[in-house]
Amino acid sequence: MIHMKEISKTYVMGDTEIKALDNISFNVEKGEFVSIVGPSGSGKSTLMNILGCLDVPDKGEYLLSGIDINNSTDRQLAYIRNHKIGFVFQNFNLLSKLNALENVAIPLMYRGLSAKKSKQLAYQYLEKVGLSGREKHTPRELSGGQQQRVAIARALVCEPEIILADEPTGALDQKTGRETIDLLKELNRKGQTIVLITHDPTVAKQAERCVSIVDGKLSDELR
Ligand SMILES: Nc1ncnc2c1ncn2[C@@H]1O[C@H](COP(=O)(O)OP(=O)(O)O)[C@@H](O)[C@H]1O
Ligand SMILES: [Mg+2]
Repeated sequence: MIHMKEISKTYVMGDTEIKALDNISFNVEKGEFVSIVGPSGSGKSTLMNILGCLDVPDKGEYLLSGIDINNSTDRQLAYIRNHKIGFVFQNFNLLSKLNALENVAIPLMYRGLSAKKSKQLAYQYLEKVGLSGREKHTPRELSGGQQQRVAIARALVCEPEIILADEPTGALDQKTGRETIDLLKELNRKGQTIVLITHDPTVAKQAERCVSIVDGKLSDELR
């Protein structure tokens, strides 16, 4: 599903160059749950942005479901982001004025589904993440763990080929963080492909496969 070959990304700041990604090759098969773990500044967000088609590498090849990302237009990349990738972030990124149901329904309405159909589907996806009965709550009226569940439902509702989760437990306490990872594991058991990015080795080891990144270089599996 994901095929990256010899990817590099360098940032130039004045007369210094920072090699944020250094010759990375990385593959993810359909149905896998892979984590990428590394300390702050190791290149995780840079890699996430490229995986998520929010940025392009300077060098190397990236195929996502057979599509050559480096040779896609901005418009094609936007389409891929909307249709193939579900993003989950550290800070949930929910719209504070909308309730849980509306937050999950929004991406469907952007796709042109009717409000009624979008809300029906959103209702089902909130149920899948264990939030039945919380549809009318705004983010402020939900705990951090519940907000992250809403965000996961919002990512899932578009039936993405892959979920990219960047530090999804970063703003949660340990117990809620574990519950969030358990939910991701359950979704993976049902067939969802997931890439999880974290600085926390305990979180990373929950995935079925774990690679580490240090100074922009990927190493082989931990454990
Ligand atoms: N937009 C940018 N401009 C310049 N340097 C950057 C930029 N983004 C990241 N970097 C540098 O690239 C390296 C990797 O950063 P990043 O991918 O954010 O790491 P992580 O997410 O693992 O903390 C760091 O040295 C960081 O300072
Ligand atoms: Mg980061």
